[in-house]
Order: sequence, then C-alpha cells, then structure tokens
Amino acid sequence: MGQEIPPTPNPQQRVQDLQKMLQEASYAYYVLDAPNMEDSVYDRLYRELQDLEGQYPELITPDSPTQRVGEKPASQFVSVRHHIPLYSLENAFSSDDMQTWQERWQKVMPDANAEYVCELKIDGSAIALTYEHGILVRGATRGDGIAGEDITQNVKAIRSIPLRLQLDNPPPRLEIRGEALLPLGSFEQINRSRSQQGEPLFANPRNAAAGTLRQLDSRIVARRKLDFFAYTLHIEDVPGNLNLSFPTQQWQSLEFLHQIGFKVNPHRQLCRDLSAVQAFYDRWSTERHNLPYMTDGMVVKINSLTLQTELGFTHKFPRWAIAWKYPAEEVPTVVNAVTVQVGRTGALTPVAELSPVQLAGTTVSRATLHNSDRIAELDLHVGDTAIVRKAGEIIPEVVRILADLRPAGAVRFQMPTHCPECNSPVVKPVDEAVTRCVNPTCPAIVRGALEHWGSRDALDINGIGEKLVRQLVEANLVQSVADLYDLTLEQLLGLERMGQKSAEKLLAAIALSKEKNWARVLYGLGIRHVGSSNAQLLAEHFPSLQALAESTPEAIASVYGIGAEIAQSVHQWFQSSDNQALLQRLQATGLQFQGAIAPAATKGNLALAGKTFVITGTLPTLKRDEAKALIQQAGGKVTDSVSKKTDYVVVGEEAGSKLQKAQALGITCISEPELLQLL
Ligand code: IVH
Repeated sequence: MGQEIPPTPNPQQRVQDLQKMLQEASYAYYVLDAPNMEDSVYDRLYRELQDLEGQYPELITPDSPTQRVGEKPASQFVSVRHHIPLYSLENAFSSDDMQTWQERWQKVMPDANAEYVCELKIDGSAIALTYEHGILVRGATRGDGIAGEDITQNVKAIRSIPLRLQLDNPPPRLEIRGEALLPLGSFEQINRSRSQQGEPLFANPRNAAAGTLRQLDSRIVARRKLDFFAYTLHIEDVPGNLNLSFPTQQWQSLEFLHQIGFKVNPHRQLCRDLSAVQAFYDRWSTERHNLPYMTDGMVVKINSLTLQTELGFTHKFPRWAIAWKYPAEEVPTVVNAVTVQVGRTGALTPVAELSPVQLAGTTVSRATLHNSDRIAELDLHVGDTAIVRKAGEIIPEVVRILADLRPAGAVRFQMPTHCPECNSPVVKPVDEAVTRCVNPTCPAIVRGALEHWGSRDALDINGIGEKLVRQLVEANLVQSVADLYDLTLEQLLGLERMGQKSAEKLLAAIALSKEKNWARVLYGLGIRHVGSSNAQLLAEHFPSLQALAESTPEAIASVYGIGAEIAQSVHQWFQSSDNQALLQRLQATGLQFQGAIAPAATKGNLALAGKTFVITGTLPTLKRDEAKALIQQAGGKVTDSVSKKTDYVVVGEEAGSKLQKAQALGITCISEPELLQLL
C-alpha cells in the first residue's frame, strides 16, 4: 500500500508553493509552448500536492491544478444565461462584400478612422469564461447566444485555460470569450480510436470539439486535448472596474489577454485599410493549410473599442466585425448507389458510391453518409446529385442534395431492416444514431473480431489480414477467435492458394500470440470503448483477467483516465455468457490473461527517453506503425503534428507540409537510417 509520507512542516505553505510551481509549469507547457519542467518532476510534485490536499482538504482552492478534472461525471448540464449575449458574425465571401460592410458602418460613423484587426477564424466552438476576482468560476457554451450550457468542469479540463488570472488587482467580474478547438492531430487520433472501436466518426474537428465540450465526464475532455484561443475581453461596468490600464483597442486586448495567461492566436495583424486586410486574407488562404488546426476564414474587427461600442449591434450581429470566409472545397457529383458496411461491432454504415470527382487534391469515389438519421436529414435518393466535401479536409462526406436535379423515378434510400451480411433483423436504439446487427455469429462481426484480434496493436498475428480471415470464415474453419488456436495444418492446406510454407508460418504466428502480454489480449477482445490505450491502462491496474472480470464498474472507473461509460461497457461485457464461454476457451489455449504491465510512459534510461518525434512521408523500409513502435519502445513519443516541442522529424519520400513546418521552426530532420542509428 502507500508509502510512509514524511510530515510536512508547514502544509499550508507547501500546498501554496506546489500549486504555484505546477501552475507555472503548466502555463509554460500549454500556453507558451515552452516546457520548463521535466514531466517526471511535474508528476511527482502533482502527486505530492494531491496527497497533501487529501490530508488537508481545507487547503484545496478552486484554482488548484488538482481541480482541473472532476471526480464524478455530471448527470446533465444546467442552462445558464449569458451576462452579455454572445453574438455571431455576419459573413463576407468577397472583397466586394467587405467593401459593402465598410460603407455600411461608415455611414453610421462617417468620420471614424478605419483601423482593423485581422484574426484567423478558428473553426471550433465559442465559449464564454467568467472570472470573479481573478478566479475561473464559470464556463459556458454559446447555446443560442442568450443562454448556453454550464460546462465549467469541462472548461477546467482544457489545460491552456488559466484557473486564475495573472492579474494583480483583478476586477470583481471579467468575461473572456474565445474558441475551444481540437487540433487536427487530436481529431485524427480520436477518429482512429473511434473507428477501431466501431463507433461513428466525428465529421470534422468542429463537431468533435463541440461534442467533447458536452461530454458529461470531464476526464474524457481532459484526454481529448482541446485547446483554447482567447479573442475578446468584457469587463463589466461596475464601479471600481473603471481602471484605465484596461485596453481601449482590440489589438491591445489581444496582447492583454496574452499577458493575463491566455493563449492568443499569434497570426494576427493590425491593418490600416481594406487593402491591407485583403493582403492578410490572401496570405492565409494558402498558409492556413500548414496550421495544426482548422480555420474557415478570418475575422475582421474594428480596432477602437470606443468605436465598437458606438456602432453597436444589429438584431443579430455586431456592426463592428465581420467574418470573411474562405470558400469551402465542395463539388457536386452523382450518387450512383448506397452500400451498407457492417463493422466489427455490428454498426451499419451507409456509404455513397459516387461518380469519381477531384476534391482538395484527391479523387473521391465514396463518401460516408454516417447513419440513418443523416440520410433522412439529407432525404437522399439513389441517383441524386450531391454536394460532397472533405470534412475537416480529410474524410469525404455528403453535405447536401440538389433536389432540383433529382431524376424522375429516383427512389429514396432506406436503411435495410436486415443485416446485409447475415440477414438477421437489425436494431436501432431510440437514443442512438447507429443501426446495428446484433447477431454474434454474423460473418461481418466475426471477420471484424478476427481481424482486430490479429491486428498490430492487439495480438499482432502476422498473416491474419482481411483476405485470409474471409477465407477462414467462408470455409467454416473459424467462427470465433478461439477457433484460431484449433486450426490444423491440413485444414489450412485445404484453403485456396495456401502453400505448405505459408500455412506453417501462420500456425507459428498464431502460437507466438500466446506470448503477447495481457494488455494486448484485453485490447484484442474488442470490448466497446476499449482501445489500445484504455486496455493498457486497465491492464496496468488489474493484474489479471479475473481481477478485472470480478470488479465493479465503480472500481473500473476509478482507474485514472477511464470514464464511467467505458467502465460500464467493460463490466457489461464480462456479464455476457457468450463472452464468458469465449474466455474459458481462450484461457485453455495458454494465452496471457495476467501479468504485470509496465506503465506505458516509463522513461528510464532508454535511448530516446523524453524525445518527441513526428513521422512524415513514406519511409524506405519501415512502415509508419513500425517506426512508431520502435521509437516508443525506446522511450520516445510520436505525435501527429510538428510544433516547437518536436525534437525530430523523420522524413520519408513525398513528405509534405510537416517537413516545411519543421524547416520553418528549425527542427532537426532525419532520415530512416539516421533514426535507426539513434535507436
Ligand atoms: S469574434 C461578437 N473572433 O466565429 C463577435 N469569433 O461566425 C464574437 N470565431 O461564434 C466573435 N474565431 O465561434 C471572433 N477570432 C475570432 C474567431 C471567432 C472563430 C467563431 C466564433 C463565432 C463564430 C462566428
């Protein structure tokens, strides 16, 4: 159990010191992007603070770094009225629109000086933060602009949002607004794990950010790595607030926001007139593609806050600001058919089969339709002309239908009532958008389970791929992963195009899987919401399958990083008698269902300890996953996007914007052989 904690001479002082050190380290890391403390030191101090606060709960303050993540998930969000309405912005799509806007406001204030601040329009979710006497007391979503939802606990889980302002005489109340966003790297990571777990993908980073902010469990928010850029400051008109050192210009406000502890987007410009605004717009219309987050235009604001107040608002928008949007890359094409794929978890995903079109640099011939709710919303008929775009500039999706172009006799697409793979009736729970096949022997589900079992992060069985799995299932040799361990050489030799050597190799690879650790086995079971990192966390905490199977949802959720939903899903999985039978068979094969698992983040004296890598382009011999695994085994970290924190960029052929970015930041770029040498 816990080790003896030496008595602290002055716990109050120590708690304050720890809070301050951790706050400063977190600010340096998350806001300034310039870490000043080793992770291991941070972790140690954090634990010390947690322990002390545990002993002396009266010393916990609302801005303590330990208060970022809530212990218990919320049951629902409460609606809150905004002190000042959150307006949205009028859109401009051309320089003519910008000219019209300028003429319009100049009519109201003819003699005013038109100095503008240009900011990038970050494609995330607007939030309002209230600080009372310098302490964060509330975070709220925009909602309808008049009232939003209280998401304070989630907002605290965004590490770049300060819990206390760096301001000497903070006013009684201050409101800061800005954009919560999900960087592209995190967006891709979330979707990768959602796809591994057979969950519907987020269409774009904006939806993912908005969805994350509305998570009831703030621990999930903390894991998803949201970020925040502040862009406006509202000081309430209370006596004593009339402090002349507060900004009088938007340009100064941004600087001020930065000084009091916020991250402010560095790409901004003060422009004397619309031609300077145009130049900024032109520059970012291409450069925005190199940013690690999405922007969909820029926001142009009148610099003088006095002039802003004088101009005021229309019934919908401020007169003093406008969003100049970049045209989205959207193209029309014909939906020739809709196919329905059945995933590993039985989820049915409708896919539009398109006449191929060029879109944002690639040929697109299929686009996801997400689920039946989305299809109903689109009113999709086969033969329709659809507008397709790359959501988040990555995944092609159907945006809308041009109903006027619908051919006569076109039939509305309906989700099948029976599974296209096994013909058993499908189910659609009322509170879910997903339609599922629930037949555990459905070949698509069986195939999915087998492929997942053999996949690299699970049991890593060389040779188990889509083709072989299909053969094994069709030949009726395998109905569950346990059957893999009963396969014989003779059976395999009976398969088409299977030679003696390949069959022997496959059997050896299957046998080798029995040596894989228990975290991999757990991941391989394909329990909903248990991706490889969750499996790792659970296996570190529960030394055996039995310990996990016998624990309560509460005990599972007490593992740091595991939310209530995951815990429930794990617990439920073990209750099923089919799963129990499967486990019994698997245990009899000699697979590892127990054993100590070293924490993933152990650094020790490994060659690449503490180093962060980004891999870009195609490497000459290693697959990306292989390079990643090698780096991780040596204690390094692999991230998706290049930042100042990146130590090395491993460059292969056809490297793109990441290489440019690395060069711009002066980060060391190395080739595969150089990486191998480092290893
Ligand atoms: S100012 C009263 N500045 O764009 C004006 N908005 O289309 C308040 N946005 O709801 C908004 N970046 O979510 C402003 N630098 C920026 C922004 C920005 C993104 C979003 C914000 C707003 C939406 C309006």
